[in-house]
Amino acid sequence: MKKLIAGNWKMNGSLAANEALLREIAAGLSAQPACAIAVCVPAPYLAQVQALVAGMPAVALGAQDVSSHASGAFTGELSASMLREFGCRYVIVGHSERRQYHGETDTLVADKAKAALAAGVTPIVCVGETLAEREAGQTEQVVKRQLAAVIHTNGHCISEIVVAYEPVWAIGTGKTATPEEAQAVHAVLRTQLKAATDQAARVKILYGGSMNAANASSLLAQADIDGGLIGGASLKAPDFLKIIAAAPV
Ligand code: 13P
Repeated sequence: MKKLIAGNWKMNGSLAANEALLREIAAGLSAQPACAIAVCVPAPYLAQVQALVAGMPAVALGAQDVSSHASGAFTGELSASMLREFGCRYVIVGHSERRQYHGETDTLVADKAKAALAAGVTPIVCVGETLAEREAGQTEQVVKRQLAAVIHTNGHCISEIVVAYEPVWAIGTGKTATPEEAQAVHAVLRTQLKAATDQAARVKILYGGSMNAANASSLLAQADIDGGLIGGASLKAPDFLKIIAAAPV
């Protein structure tokens, strides 16, 4: 399976910075990269980045959140069909920053994934344990609970999602899960997907949390790590390009 390297720009960027970043990425990309690539950008920049990546066939566009509702009186929210209209192939749902700062529950995240799938946008469903949960030996239980909600709500469509394992303690901290630690959790998630669909082998499970140019290749070499969801390092073209180059065929 082709790996997927997705940048999550989070709440960073400006018209000028986005253009400079994407031009530098375009200049450094090989004509046919070995992996699939995406950038998940802040919503106000979707139109700008849609236009910029139109000239970069290897790079898909993604958003960072979506409403669980199709339309209506939901001030401030964005529907999946709106994202689709701006060319989004992906949308991140259930990022730990949304769960933590916006109180998103497993059920809401599952409903968001469903709304995305209904509009033809692939949800990148984030799961991951906090440091306290890891130290309490609850990692497996937490990620399984988070994924179970999405499986329950999405039924046979579950093979259409992308999963991202992002241990909360590794996000933006410079502390990465070791390749073995990450692989162990990815294997748990794969087993859970296998119980839900006979298509589990084609579900991409990304790792996210301080992935960078130096550690990408050892993480991406693991059997069940099908790519990366990259925060900080996706904002620096040379680093993002190195991670893309580290993805094995
Ligand atoms: P960092 O790569 O900055 O740790 O962020 C990871 C992340 O949260 C991607 O969604």
